[in-house]
This record gives sequence, structure tokens and C-alpha cells, in this order.
Amino acid sequence: PRVVVLISGSGSNLQALIDAQSHDRLGGEIVAVIANEPDAYGLKRARDAGIDAVALPHREYESREAYDGALIKVIERHEPDVIVLAGFMRILTPRFVQRFLGRMLNIHPSLLPAYQGLNTHARALADQATRHGCSVHFVTEELDGGPVVLQAELKVSADDNVETLKQKVQDREHLIFPIAVQWFLQGRLQYTGEGATMDGHRL
Ligand code: GRF
Repeated sequence: PRVVVLISGSGSNLQALIDAQSHDRLGGEIVAVIANEPDAYGLKRARDAGIDAVALPHREYESREAYDGALIKVIERHEPDVIVLAGFMRILTPRFVQRFLGRMLNIHPSLLPAYQGLNTHARALADQATRHGCSVHFVTEELDGGPVVLQAELKVSADDNVETLKQKVQDREHLIFPIAVQWFLQGRLQYTGEGATMDGHRL
């Protein structure tokens, strides 16, 4: 199976996926990494791993529709079985989402449905949440609203700040994201239109 990864930044989740692949724990091959930010450090991680690294800067397109159209073309050239959003900080057009519906997984730094959107760690701290974490979900047209397939939960301690919390959450992201991708590529995870199933059971 073929995996395309979309990133915007550091690509630490991409690195976790690359490492999983090199230990035969991904269930597929990362055939391309595409970044909307040409300076994304993750592109270097991809090149270092011998993976096709594509910069597709959104600033060179006049509309979201035009950009997503170009992105669809680049992705389809690589014939992926799954499209993995690993810190891809763009809102996707309905056309894009429809094209790949049921084949797109995203990682989000909160226990969804809590804290959709940005600044999740600061918001959890402001709420004095005692638990926080991260979620892997299928991507639908609702931002951070698609069916959740896997979560990791952690305790927030009294002395946590945004940085410590972010680090703790990211450590868990790196653990669970490759697992979810592997489950998907093994055919165990499915998007049904209303939700997601694992081994045929509703999640
Ligand atoms: C992750 O925390 C992810 O949850 C969020 O963006 C961050 C990406 O980090 N959506 P990295 O580029 O994988 O290091």
C-alpha cells in the first residue's frame, strides 16, 4: 500500500511514520511528502529518508479552490491508498475532502470532540482540564469533526504549561498515529459515512 503524507511544519509525526515504516510497522510505503510551506523541516526529513519531497506553496495560488485542485493532482500522481495529514495546517475545500473521503486520516492535539481548532493546549490549561491528549480521526468536511479512530489520554499536572503539555501530547501522537495508519492499511479501520468501524465494530 501507498501512503502520501501532507505536512506544514516540523514533521515530527512524519518522522514517527518514517520510523514505523523502517521497522515494518506502518503497513505501507510513504511514497511522497507534500508541504504547503516550502521551508517545512519535514521536507528535509523526507529527503533524508529517500522519500519524494514536494513543496507546493499555497501562496502561489489565488484561491483555496485553485490550490486544492493542484494538490489533488499532485496527490493522485502518487496513487495513494491513504492520505495522512500530519500537521497540515490548512482548511480543506469540500471538493478536496470529497475526492479522498474515507481515505484521509488526521492527528489532532486534543481529546476530540473537545478543543477542535487551534491552541488546544492553552485552552485545556485555561479550563483547568485534568485530562488532555490527542486523537486520530477520519477527515470529513467538518473541521476536526470526523469520526475518531484512536486516542491517547494523559493527566494534566498542576505545573504543566503550554510547552510541557505540547511535548507530552506530541510524544503520544508519535505513538498512536503510525498504529492507526497501519490499522487502516490492513483494512481494519473503515469510514462508513456515519462513523468509523474497527474490525467491523462501530467505534
Ligand atoms: C501536531 O501537534 C499535530 O497534532 C498538529 O500539528 C502538530 C504537527 O507537528 N495538528 P509535527 O509537524 O508533526 O511536528
